[in-house]
Amino acid sequence: MRAPLRIAVLASGRGSNLRALLQARLRGELPIDVVGVFSDRPGCAALALAGEAGIPSFAQRPADFASRSEFDDSMFNRIEAVQPDLIVCAGYMRLISDAAVSRFKGKIINIHPSLLPKYPGLHTHARALAAGDREHGASVHCVIPELDAGAVIAHTRIPVLAGDGPESLSNRLLEREHQLLVQTVKAIADGDLDISGNQPRWHGVPIDTPLSSGPNGHLEDQR
Ligand code: GRF
Repeated sequence: MRAPLRIAVLASGRGSNLRALLQARLRGELPIDVVGVFSDRPGCAALALAGEAGIPSFAQRPADFASRSEFDDSMFNRIEAVQPDLIVCAGYMRLISDAAVSRFKGKIINIHPSLLPKYPGLHTHARALAAGDREHGASVHCVIPELDAGAVIAHTRIPVLAGDGPESLSNRLLEREHQLLVQTVKAIADGDLDISGNQPRWHGVPIDTPLSSGPNGHLEDQR
């Protein structure tokens, strides 16, 4: 049997994606150990959640550092100390410097609330609505220094309903985001998904079309 995948989580906010990972682990569905939670916002809910779960956590303020690279050197030294197999950005609202990405090359994923490459950055729900999209969704992708631009691993899709506003759309999507993230982490932990190279691979085959979050708890190849 494989050892549980050691996961470090980076979060800036309420931590619902972190909670989803922890709950899936408690249900016995996810062979992981969350070995540390790291944040740029001391006092955020994700850190409180880590405390409740008995997970070591660490936070530092960007204002206490002269530059992004100094902030990241310090943050990623802390992360390295917990020896993660995988770093999950779950609502982490900062760009990561080139040096930190290179240091953990092939080991960092992010969950983003749009169907990338559509709508990198902020206000994704409002932008999908303004564009008149009939469909919205979320993506898990590999992290590179450019914002929300690394190879897309998988999507989850929801219809945009008549009368939807940014809040209803975001609330409806959130539950699906959690499933998408859990399924993606499970696929890495099970060895079905390999993100260590320049392009993610699904059962050894390069992913050229994002996988899809399936209804049965697994990622699926949509080709
Ligand atoms: C999620 O919508 C995630 O996709 C985005 O930020 C939000 C974080 O939510 N990057 P939470 O902190 O995990 O509840």
